[in-house]
Amino acid sequence: MQPETEIIRHFHWQDFATNDAFESWREAKIRACDRLSKLPPIRLDSLAACEKSARRDLKERCAIANHALYQVSHSEPTVEADCTALAGFARSLGLSVPEDHRSAGERGVVALRTSSTATKKGYIPYTARPLNWHTDGYYNPASSPVMAFVLHCHQQAGIGGENQLADPELVYLRMREANPNFVAALMHRGAMTIPENREPDGTLRPTSVGPVFFADEVSGRLQMRYTARTRSIEWRSDPTTDRATEWLRDWLTSGDPMIRSLRLAPGQGILCNNVLHNRTGFDDGADHARVMLRIRFHQRLSEEHDGTA
Ligand SMILES: [Fe+2]
Repeated sequence: MQPETEIIRHFHWQDFATNDAFESWREAKIRACDRLSKLPPIRLDSLAACEKSARRDLKERCAIANHALYQVSHSEPTVEADCTALAGFARSLGLSVPEDHRSAGERGVVALRTSSTATKKGYIPYTARPLNWHTDGYYNPASSPVMAFVLHCHQQAGIGGENQLADPELVYLRMREANPNFVAALMHRGAMTIPENREPDGTLRPTSVGPVFFADEVSGRLQMRYTARTRSIEWRSDPTTDRATEWLRDWLTSGDPMIRSLRLAPGQGILCNNVLHNRTGFDDGADHARVMLRIRFHQRLSEEHDGTA
């Protein structure tokens, strides 16, 4: 990996004692992310045959910016075949512990499309409505967070369905620039509570309490758990937490040059360490039913190259 990447990887983000390390990390992070944002998606021949060099590039980009975009030259013809290929692609990158999602098939892949079936009714990911900023699985118990996911476009909507992506480390960087106390407040283990919820299938999802910023147990890298929803959420009762969450909502609304906007085309996808994201509404039209495939993991993408993943 490049020296810049090493600075980004080894920054002790929980250390607020000195500012020098933060400044060097900040400079390396902005420079490297800016460079990556100008590059086209990484080319893969197919999901089933992801070459070693492509795997290396995907991991390098994720080590820098917590996400990487790719473009497959030869797509699978059916949703079923694409789901199988996507699970294999993730496995080839060392992602081997998929989340046990209620809608996932045996490979752990969920096909997201507009749906009116009972278990999915009312869940925004299965409708064409806009989706506000969030990280995946923000309602999971603190013991089983979503650390990574792949979102792959099988078919685009007729109109709309754009995503914006915000790297959690970019959120941290901007928030620490604004006020380091905001970051510290959102690192508190009781910062964000999602109350229990009765699922449509009758099961009870328990209350989820945890921090917004937390460290991956293996690498120490920063991970994030967040939703911009304002109902069915309780923030820790604390004036700094109030100001931090207000700052974050404002920042996401105002935008940032380093937030990425994209509309995935068929065969394109996002591999990421659970970056913050949103989605505009969309219209399938007469013959363009949007189908996005998603697989989530309880582990971050390994930053080691092939042979150790
Ligand atoms: Fe999501």
